[in-house]
Amino acid sequence: MRVLLPLPGNETFAGRLARAGGGEVGVLQARQFPDGESYVRIETDVAGRAVDLVCGLARPDPAFLRLAFVADALRDMGAVEVNLIAPYLGYMRQDARFQAGEAITSRTFARLLSAVVDGLVTVDPHLHRHPALEGLYAIPCRTLHAAPLLADWIRAEVVAPLVVGPDEESAQWVAAVADRVGAPHVVMTKRRLGDREVRVELPDLGAHRGRRPVLIDDIASSGRTLVAAADALRLQGFAPPVCVVVHALFGEDALARVAAATERIVSTDSIPHETNAIWLAPLIVNGAA
Ligand code: R5P
Repeated sequence: MRVLLPLPGNETFAGRLARAGGGEVGVLQARQFPDGESYVRIETDVAGRAVDLVCGLARPDPAFLRLAFVADALRDMGAVEVNLIAPYLGYMRQDARFQAGEAITSRTFARLLSAVVDGLVTVDPHLHRHPALEGLYAIPCRTLHAAPLLADWIRAEVVAPLVVGPDEESAQWVAAVADRVGAPHVVMTKRRLGDREVRVELPDLGAHRGRRPVLIDDIASSGRTLVAAADALRLQGFAPPVCVVVHALFGEDALARVAAATERIVSTDSIPHETNAIWLAPLIVNGAA
């Protein structure tokens, strides 16, 4: 039987995967020495078995070294294959050198992770200038999409929705979500002026008045995109939007800011968060929804 081995903080998600698709949830001890270095010990017998490490990468800096230590130990113990299920894949947004001297972290991180695991499964990685993970990663990658799950949630929970994408990047999957919901959609134009400054523009939405706007985005990080989009909708006389995001990073005071500007916020469980309401385990186990 396949082993699902959660890194610390990923035990709940590994349990959901096991319930959805079978597999033994393995046991890992992890702690830090007083000097901050990591100690890991695998308690599950993995000899001759395939192992799926389960580790979201919302905090990729500390997670990466642990993953490397665990993957090497698993191979030393006779695991025949070591894959990574990372429902959120970090280091995808700095995919170009915007200013001289900047590191292109997505490229370096992909090279390092490709040397650690044999394969990668993830959900909606932030693909912008790279059309597919295969352009970055040197290992087989399975890229899953949560759009159908978001659509099913919207259809069940929101009356007369208007599906809204906050930027041009979201256009493709906003249309797919709206299509599955059976609702109209619009896409805003976004300009990011800094980590915490975002401006959006949207066309006249007079034809959709009376509908409940549903903002969908792949990532909520500073929350500035969602707040700017909610403000733009309010200026056109719409009720506060419902926000549906795939990856709920919500750093600093982002959740409070978004909550103040919107009706309701929900997310998938790619990152454990109080807004989680859409469960990814069936998608990861069964493939496309
Ligand atoms: C950007 O292109 C993404 O699709 C998200 O819109 C962005 O990462 C959200 O970031 P923030 O919450 O910091 O505005």
